Amino acid sequence: MEEILNQYQTVQLKDATTWFKVGTVDDFPTNRGGCIKYKNKQIAIFNFARRNEWYACQNACPHKMEMVLARGMTGSADDIPKIACPMHKKTFSLVDGSNLNGDDFKIATYPVKVIENEVFVGFTD
Ligand code: FES
Repeated sequence: MEEILNQYQTVQLKDATTWFKVGTVDDFPTNRGGCIKYKNKQIAIFNFARRNEWYACQNACPHKMEMVLARGMTGSADDIPKIACPMHKKTFSLVDGSNLNGDDFKIATYPVKVIENEVFVGFTD
């Protein structure tokens, strides 16, 4: 488990050294997720149009390591944007990856920027 989690590390906006183009705005459904691959990672991308914000996180749900978070439901909890896993409904903050159910699971999140209709996700490698 720890080995798998280590390949997913939350990247802060200020730490991103590589901005990987994942597509254009139109490639991603609104208020739902899309999935892209970066190196050996599956990354879920969310065009959170209700908030006019974009988020990215690991696609693997840490509960059972299923590659499903891109198919989860977006929402907000106390104004924190969140994603609910479609399998067992555990919810995670899209800001810092913390588990909002109080469980000991956490997900990696990545910064997203949109420049002239093109979507980029920030990584540290
Ligand atoms: S696999 Fe995501 S909550 Fe169980």
